[in-house]
Amino acid sequence: MSARPVPRAEAVGRAPAKLILSGEHSVVYGHPAIALAVRRETTVRLERRPGPTALGSAPFADPRVLPALLTVLPEDGLCINIQSDVPVGRGMGSSAALAVATVRAWAALEGRSLDFALTHAQGFAIERAFHGQPSGVDHAVSALGGAICYRKGAAGPDWQALRCPDLPLVILDSGSAGDTAALVAGVASRRPGIDPVLERMGALTARLAQLLAAPAPALRQVGRLLDENHKLLRDIGVSTPRLDELVALARSAGAVGAKLAGAGGGGVVLALCPDPGPVLAAAAQAEIPAFSVHVAPPEPR
Ligand code: PMV
Repeated sequence: MSARPVPRAEAVGRAPAKLILSGEHSVVYGHPAIALAVRRETTVRLERRPGPTALGSAPFADPRVLPALLTVLPEDGLCINIQSDVPVGRGMGSSAALAVATVRAWAALEGRSLDFALTHAQGFAIERAFHGQPSGVDHAVSALGGAICYRKGAAGPDWQALRCPDLPLVILDSGSAGDTAALVAGVASRRPGIDPVLERMGALTARLAQLLAAPAPALRQVGRLLDENHKLLRDIGVSTPRLDELVALARSAGAVGAKLAGAGGGGVVLALCPDPGPVLAAAAQAEIPAFSVHVAPPEPR
């Protein structure tokens, strides 16, 4: 017999940020994507409080946040406090981490256990409120941790954990946000002409998944696929001159491969750097915010 849920007065949920290593945009059309959970975190603390559910503290003023969270949380009786060191609007999954952390906090407050299927379904409701029709890869990897290969699938999400090492990644921030929904709509409007490019992205992602499964993946080969991926993302119209510049800067400072990560139009570039020092130094000299990231461990299942 399972234990009866014991509701609490206050509860916390946490979830990591993400990066898409390969397959953004093509994942919307059923191709695979490889995503990594990274060690940046959002924490949601829910407290029971009389009156309409409201935001207490939050690190961002985005009018979409409360309506999005109310797709899962009750209209009344809660105060929502959010803390986060996930950059917002940079393709690092700030909304996905918020979604998963909220779903976890709500289950903890109600004293319920939570499996991946429910986390993903409730996370989808929140993500849809932010982004329209997302593929679901962002909040899947935030919920699962580690590295995954994800497909949207007609019958629901299909994913496999990847045994990916903690790749030496440096993030370079373009300083501007991309509008995911608008970028996804832009890609849709360029179909079917760009379908062969989306196919190539899917094939490239499958090759990358194979490479990463090796006991010690060859970073130069991984890097070559990241470079190729960036060119394909440029071909479907989601890069910008600034993102291309950041890719070139990282490559000339020693990165073995670099690409935009996420929807594009702004956001960040990820660079694979066997030696991160020179890339971080080159970025600092050019006054580009840059930092190293590490893969977050898989969630216990
Ligand atoms: O959340 P972002 O901005 O990193 O982009 C998500 C990735 C896309 O493939 C562009 C959209 C999606 O729903 O998968």
